[in-house]
Amino acid sequence: MNAPVTIKIGEKSIDLPVKAGSVGPDVLDIGKLYAEAGVFTFDPGFTSTASTESKITYIDGDAGVLLYRGYPIEQLAEHGDFLETCYLLLNGDLPSAAQKADFDYRVTRHTMVHEQMARFFQGFRRDAHPMAVMVASVGALSAFYNDSTDVHDPHQRMVASMRMIAKIPTIAAMAYKYNVGQPFVYPKNDLDYASNFLRMCFAVPCEDYKVNPVLARALDRIFILHADHEQNASTSTVRLAGSSGANPFACIAAGIACLWGPAHGGANEAALKMLSEIGTPDRIPAFIAKAKDKNDPFRLMGFGHRVYKNYDPRAKIMQRTLQEVLSELGVKDDPLFDVALELERIALSDPYFVEKKLYPNVDFYSGIILKAMGFPTTMFTVLFAVARTVGWIAQWREMIEDPGQRIGRPRQLYTGAPRRDYVPLGKR
Ligand code: ACO
Repeated sequence: MNAPVTIKIGEKSIDLPVKAGSVGPDVLDIGKLYAEAGVFTFDPGFTSTASTESKITYIDGDAGVLLYRGYPIEQLAEHGDFLETCYLLLNGDLPSAAQKADFDYRVTRHTMVHEQMARFFQGFRRDAHPMAVMVASVGALSAFYNDSTDVHDPHQRMVASMRMIAKIPTIAAMAYKYNVGQPFVYPKNDLDYASNFLRMCFAVPCEDYKVNPVLARALDRIFILHADHEQNASTSTVRLAGSSGANPFACIAAGIACLWGPAHGGANEAALKMLSEIGTPDRIPAFIAKAKDKNDPFRLMGFGHRVYKNYDPRAKIMQRTLQEVLSELGVKDDPLFDVALELERIALSDPYFVEKKLYPNVDFYSGIILKAMGFPTTMFTVLFAVARTVGWIAQWREMIEDPGQRIGRPRQLYTGAPRRDYVPLGKR
């Protein structure tokens, strides 16, 4: 602990303890501020507020660094696989070979969903957005798996965690199949996580489906890159929902709902739409001008990040993965990729973007990869949700297992009407 910081409020001097993390900036502990000085702090959007202590993920936004449990994202994406990353996020260390085999086996044995879920799906309109289906059906898991909703029972917490990591790809694939009017494809347990997901999405009963290992590896890498990102909007939503003791399925459904927004997980869908709308490199300057125009709400989708004020390290890996996928699929000239590369080049040398430190984020390239794999844009955020589920669960479990955990309850600066008396209808 560093020396406390003393602040003066009116005549009163208050010592605020300073807490140091293992890396990263110190934090001022203001927990007693209201009790001692009668004031709140004001930080809409939480730009200067640490909402929790955590040992899971570390980001240095200025340096463009992302670590899961201390391991750089580049190393995990290069050498690891998604289930190993899941184990790491959940347990704190990389698994031994035996631990990995056991973990993979347990996830794989939970991949089927309750058969009644298939009938539950029939209630949705065919044209429902797959994210709408995800929010509803993940929430509904608490109705189907009532025996793992007691958050105070460590065994039930573990079972719910495994169930969610295992079943989320199955539900996501069902959301896709339902939308395109094809029969659901059951999971196949001798396939790895990403291959199984590709097969559940793209196999049909009337034709064999052979998983392309390059695409499976690319998808696995996309899952690794999206697995966790410390206290972002959806993770904070999961923690806040969980702080009341809500069951884990309901909390993850809340996270999925938050992820859906275009400022968060919906950005990959929006980025691809924008690249298609731009269409050709010669139209880029007009879009850059729109993005810079204060009177125009348009923003370059896939650019900028609350935390990264440098190149998002995930975007670099994503760009390489995209090249691998396009070359595997024999795509020589993808106009979207050309527009993306040129847009990136122009934006990175434009003073507006340079001064505001707006770099491509993870979503800038992921949409082009997913499109090349055959996913429609409406599935992009769904794939993000599949990957992020493990991060949400790891964060939720860390919160529940913290002995000092309390319900999350922010305060406010009230600017509405002061007390006034009710006026009967006839006298208004
Ligand atoms: N295009 C043009 N200008 C931008 C962009 C952009 N993509 N992003 C930020 N700016 C500008 C803002 O207009 C603002 O300018 P000002 O200071 O002159 O008013 C300044 O940069 C700071 O922007 P804020 O909105 O205050 O930054 P914030 O941290 O709140 O927002 C966000 C971050 C939401 C990611 C924003 O950059 C954005 O909307 N980007 C596009 C959407 C996107 O790609 N989201 C994905 C995020 S990554 C993820 O969720 C996985």
